[in-house]
Amino acid sequence: MENDSKNPIGVFDSGLGGLTVVKELIRQLPNEDIIYYGDTARVPYGTKSKESIIRFSIENANILLKYKVKMIVVACNSCSSYALSILQKGFSVPVIGVIDAGARKAVDTTKNKRVGVIATPATIASEKYPQTIHHYDKSLKVLSQACPLFVPLVEEGWMDKDVTLRVANEYLGDFKKQKIDTLILGCTHYPLLKKVLSKSMGAQVSLVDSAQEVALEVKRVLNALGKINANQKKGRTKFLVSDKPQEFKKIAKQFLGFEIKDLVKVEKHKM
Ligand code: DGL
Repeated sequence: MENDSKNPIGVFDSGLGGLTVVKELIRQLPNEDIIYYGDTARVPYGTKSKESIIRFSIENANILLKYKVKMIVVACNSCSSYALSILQKGFSVPVIGVIDAGARKAVDTTKNKRVGVIATPATIASEKYPQTIHHYDKSLKVLSQACPLFVPLVEEGWMDKDVTLRVANEYLGDFKKQKIDTLILGCTHYPLLKKVLSKSMGAQVSLVDSAQEVALEVKRVLNALGKINANQKKGRTKFLVSDKPQEFKKIAKQFLGFEIKDLVKVEKHKM
């Protein structure tokens, strides 16, 4: 088999949110090339049906394969919830999702065995987080809450607004009553709300950031497979979107903290 360790890591998401994963990958694996595909034409996925999410996920993975990626990271929690095992069976490169890493971290973190999960309606409906947590430890109590208003608030850049804190207080009220000590941020966008979420829950509650955890998992898997890029040069990043590249560029700067240069609009989903 051809040694593909110098090939890029492919990452896809429904839109912009997966850039939180890219940021972590750049931090933890600075020598890797990364190709990111954001399906900005069809975002959001988190309010769509299982069937649509699976179809979109397969199409997105096929786009990345055209760029000879050595691995696919499914940055989107909604896609990881419904399509991960399908992609793992159907594609020849390793495919990594965000659920397992986040669930494992929560199991390791909780002291009082009470974990909360916040995510899109699709991810919550899939019950993938509680299932995965219970696979590791059946004795944990897992509470779930869909937070559909968080994605538009982040896309609007309203991370620090009062209204966002009010929305958070509304969504998290039950978690506070139930005294969870660990909260999984089960959506690409939520790491950007850490300040508000911590304010709402109190500093004693640990926030599990799936983006950080999945980057660690990518590193572990690449190491295990002998696929780490031994290049000493800084890795390159390329970005593909299905719509509105200029808007993507503007908001990407907020997510990543730097201006993206290599950005292409993909014309077709079908191969
Ligand atoms: N990327 C999605 C997720 O992590 C959030 C945005 C969307 O709904 O498409 O579930």
